[in-house]
Amino acid sequence: MTTPGARPLQALVLVGGQGTRLRPLTYDIPKPMLPIAGRPIIVRILEWLGRYGVTRAVLSLGYRPEPFIAAFPSGRVGAVELAYAVEPEPLDTAGAIRFAAEQAGLLGERVVVVNGDVLTDLDLRELVSFHDVHGGSATIALTPVEDPSAYGVVSSTAEGRVLAFIEKPPAGMAPSNLINAGTYVLEPAALAEIPGERRVSIEREIFPRLVAQGQLFAMASPAYWIDTGTPERYRQAQFDVLCGSRPEVHLPEATETQPGVYLEAGARLLGEVRGRLLLGQGAVVAEGACVTDSLLGAGVQVARGASISDSVLLSGAAIGAGALVSCSIIGPDAVIGEGAVISGDTIIGAKTIVAPRARLDGARLTR
Ligand code: GDD
Ligand code: MG
Repeated sequence: MTTPGARPLQALVLVGGQGTRLRPLTYDIPKPMLPIAGRPIIVRILEWLGRYGVTRAVLSLGYRPEPFIAAFPSGRVGAVELAYAVEPEPLDTAGAIRFAAEQAGLLGERVVVVNGDVLTDLDLRELVSFHDVHGGSATIALTPVEDPSAYGVVSSTAEGRVLAFIEKPPAGMAPSNLINAGTYVLEPAALAEIPGERRVSIEREIFPRLVAQGQLFAMASPAYWIDTGTPERYRQAQFDVLCGSRPEVHLPEATETQPGVYLEAGARLLGEVRGRLLLGQGAVVAEGACVTDSLLGAGVQVARGASISDSVLLSGAAIGAGALVSCSIIGPDAVIGEGAVISGDTIIGAKTIVAPRARLDGARLTR
């Protein structure tokens, strides 16, 4: 996919947000470090960037920067060299871009900017070519969604010139169902529009200003796209990998032991499985337990008589005998007591202990 002789691409990935909608998981693990089918979101993003010829990526860090720096001791992911810019205080999306570009010496360069919680198979080269042909200060990728009110909504001309950018419009007020997909190409002229050293939102301040100047373009793409920032979408993004909805994304560490059932080294499936399953390294599903359409991380233990469905259990979680977990996320090393019933997008934080026979529906629980 990398065109020989093409200009190398530099990227800036926004990973400094607090991930409030995924609390309490994000109290311990910043959102882009949360795993998607065993691999952190940020790693999957960097792999995607690398596939399309990005050679250097600057991580724009703010909230909890340490786990990122610790995760990449070699300072690279595949062919992508990493650099870090740590904000002294949250500067919001555009402020963060400006700060990171300045720190990394990119203010005079064309950069690709990516939201650090989006997973996509967008053809980045196509976006950059579109940008070059249209010649604006900035180009944003668009994706169609059913309910645009949770996103930045864009209306544009047939040629791709943006007429309006409205961040999170009230329900029913969106001018189109095409939304900002969180991948941008920015010229130095766009970076120069961002005032330094204060909070600035690219969506609420900079994009509307570029629209007024006639300098913002947008390219819609039907490529796979998901924002992993809510509990339901965080689960969905993982199930999409398990279902093979993304031909470029595989489960290289796992063996498919029966259709749709993937086991990593040392995993033991002694109970029943329905639908699809990823069982991480050394994870065990005991005899008499049942797992349906779920992803279980390394070292997870599911005891006899427990039932897990449409859920994500992060590494080291332990599910007691007879417990029921459905449509929920269990944090790393959490312990679910015997006979507990957990449902409705409940999130259990890391190392949290849930009492035997507790009933949690749509709850957030942390230690
Ligand atoms: N460094 C830094 N500093 N990063 C930040 C800050 C900050 O102050 N605030 C947010 N971020 C990062 C987050 O970590 C995340 O990766 C990205 O910026 C976007 O923030 P979200 O909180 O996930 O925004 P959103 O999902 O509500 O909306 C954004 O993404 C949508 C597409 O997924 C907007 O860009 C929408 O317009 C867009 O449609
Ligand atoms: Mg988001």
